[in-house]
Amino acid sequence: MIQTIPSSPFTDQKPGTSGLRKKVRVFAQPNYAENFIQSVFDAVQPEAGSTLVIGGDGRYHNRTVIQAAIRIAAANGYGRVLVGQGGILSTPAASHVIRKYGASGGLILSASHNPGGPDEDFGIKYNIANGGPAPEAITDAIFARTKVIDRWLTVEAADVDLDTLGSQQVAGTTVEVIDSVADWADLMETLFDFPAIRAAVAGGLSMAFDAMHAVTGPYAVEVLERRLGFRPGTVQNGVPLEDFGGHHPDPNRVHAKVLFDLMFSPDAPAFGAASDGDGDRNLIVGKGIFITPSDSLAMLAANAHLAPGYAKGLAGIARSMPTSAAADRVAEALGIPAFETPTGWKFFGTLLDAGKATICGEESAGTGSDHVREKDGLWAVLLWLNILAARGESMEAIARQHWAKFGRNYYARHDYEALPKDDAEALMAALEASFPTLPGKAFGPLTVEKADSFAYTDPVDGSFSANQGLRVLFVGGSRIVLRLSGTGTEGATLRLYLERYEPAGGTLDADTDAMLSDLIAAAEAIAGIAARTGRSAPDVIT
Ligand code: G6P
Ligand code: ZN
Repeated sequence: MIQTIPSSPFTDQKPGTSGLRKKVRVFAQPNYAENFIQSVFDAVQPEAGSTLVIGGDGRYHNRTVIQAAIRIAAANGYGRVLVGQGGILSTPAASHVIRKYGASGGLILSASHNPGGPDEDFGIKYNIANGGPAPEAITDAIFARTKVIDRWLTVEAADVDLDTLGSQQVAGTTVEVIDSVADWADLMETLFDFPAIRAAVAGGLSMAFDAMHAVTGPYAVEVLERRLGFRPGTVQNGVPLEDFGGHHPDPNRVHAKVLFDLMFSPDAPAFGAASDGDGDRNLIVGKGIFITPSDSLAMLAANAHLAPGYAKGLAGIARSMPTSAAADRVAEALGIPAFETPTGWKFFGTLLDAGKATICGEESAGTGSDHVREKDGLWAVLLWLNILAARGESMEAIARQHWAKFGRNYYARHDYEALPKDDAEALMAALEASFPTLPGKAFGPLTVEKADSFAYTDPVDGSFSANQGLRVLFVGGSRIVLRLSGTGTEGATLRLYLERYEPAGGTLDADTDAMLSDLIAAAEAIAGIAARTGRSAPDVIT
């Protein structure tokens, strides 16, 4: 029954920070998605009868690739395939399903926060048995396979009915269409004090959640409206659409502007949040106050003991290198280790598996814990709600008390999008070449202490990753970091991360732009972004 389809390699199937992401029209070429999926199976060599999880964020092309993937999985000897109903599984829900049902891995079909639609982006990511993104050793093996692949396997079978729950047979493989939401929602009830949050809601706690017409809609309606009692309509843009309603499902100040404006208006509820295309990112904004992802990580870690799932305390806190050091100060106060990893959630996997870190977070609006092996947007929302319910204070009061105790890491990220790749690479190369001359040099009030290219040795498995971002550290703890995005699909995106630390007792309630102006000037003097790219301002500031 197994059919062997001859094929030839595509040269551009190197997985990025988070899987393979390309335009839909690239994925829609004959053999393109099939080659990649077959390369995954060739690289991971599943044991006969293994379970595979498949789900995606519902974007355009999701159903087509799922049908192909099911047939390829059947031909490659998987015994059972679990698919989210309608092809929907948020990234954190997929991670949980892989773990809960003992799957050997999963295919997550998403391009995360990138736009969707026939002219937009699609993506395929492979997660391993621990529920987390495949580590580099595996993505390297997949890429190596894509370069030489000469066939893919499939079976002759009709499309699976993705919309009806239950089991179907595909050439001897059992395909189970599962409820996309229930397993994940039940897990949340084990971590958070739902009765306390429900009581706070009944007592007037209000919120707005923008699902951005992406995958979190059904998850948010289930937990926020059905299980916690927020009024219907709390979840906005809650129906997943193949093109996300024409929007960019990236929960930041630019793309979640409607929510942002609401939270700074007189009608603001107490708490506002949004998530991205595949549900792993979060935007947290209080009434009249934006909480940066780096601060949110620190504040969640400092208060996590208020939630039942974390009442016994945290083993450690991990953050990616460009994320501000705010969380490190919390770890220090708690007497637990702080880890600094390269960008990419996959780097947290070993720390979580080894029980070294309990909570992890990234400046790119990802926060999560050891409950799954992905970041989890709604998890962060629920932990915040648990904290608000337990403390009975406003977001602003909680943030101000946090800064008064730990000091404040003023922080911003400036993105320069769709630059010609060569220009961006030349800029980075010139910057790195200048590093030996920088220590001791003054830029306005800032003096360079050290400049380096970040490299990381995993403390659990010893794997080494070089070239993970260029950083210039100034005397006193301020710093700038530059790196090229690993998730874009057009040209290069340059990210400039700016951080300035004000200790407790310092200037804690100033405007972020004003506090970062010296750093912005230093960055221009050191890296010459405007001079080299011709861009006078970033496209997005987060
Ligand atoms: C994905 C990963 C994150 C990572 C981010 C970085 O979202 O899941 O873990 O932080 O990409 O994106 P970038 O575009 O900066 O490479
Ligand atoms: Zn995402």
